Amino acid sequence: MRKPILAGNWKMNKTVAEAIALVSEMKDDLVSIHSVDKVLCPAFMAVPEVARLVNGTDLGVGAQDLHWEESGAYTGEVSPLMVKEFCSYVIIGHSERRELFGETDESVNRKISAALAHGLTPIVCVGETLELREQGRTESWIAGQVEAALQGITAAQVASMIIAYEPIWAIGTGLAATAEEAQRVCRDVVRATVAKLYGPPTADVLRIQYGGSVKPSNTAELMAQPDIDGALVGGASLEAYDFVEIVRLSAQAVSSA
Ligand code: PGA
Repeated sequence: MRKPILAGNWKMNKTVAEAIALVSEMKDDLVSIHSVDKVLCPAFMAVPEVARLVNGTDLGVGAQDLHWEESGAYTGEVSPLMVKEFCSYVIIGHSERRELFGETDESVNRKISAALAHGLTPIVCVGETLELREQGRTESWIAGQVEAALQGITAAQVASMIIAYEPIWAIGTGLAATAEEAQRVCRDVVRATVAKLYGPPTADVLRIQYGGSVKPSNTAELMAQPDIDGALVGGASLEAYDFVEIVRLSAQAVSSA
């Protein structure tokens, strides 16, 4: 039985003051919801303050990226040692980083290795563009991204991490994949690729999130899918009411499963 995990990716939103206000608004409600893991991923500036606010609760904190080196002349970068002072999770390979900031399969792989070596849980994002989808290349693209991301990663490490399937055409568009489509890719491509590489026992424990326009109105349907073990939530995680609802509905889906 895989415990669902809901993560809010705040992206480049919320000043420290705004982050404090948002956490204060939703913290008690989130803490009162059990049976799912809950993670907040603020921008780096707000990470220490958010970590301080949720300290002692079961709320997790994640970074949105990291560099693979521990220290050095890498202006603007944040190392795994710095991330792990405050975070237990780290998002790696988000499509915005891949599309806008030159992230490659190779850098994604290096970051995953570094995160794991430092005891961080990577949330690794994969997803196809609308063009690839229209060309019928979704399956091969996603399988290729998963395979490239996991080069040199052991089965035990894979079992501990999270893969987020985020179709790029669904991110920030309001147009989520249907629950059936998301389930199909999570099962037949993401989990199947991990099963091919590491065997079914590893694939069976891997948690797979769906991401892309997740909101309260589509949460129950997505979370009812057997191979969707949570969500990576962007826009809706910036609103306390929406994120709490998404977490609450996900917990409800577990209890009715
Ligand atoms: P969205 O973003 O929920 O705003 O579509 C999801 C993501 O980018 O992780």
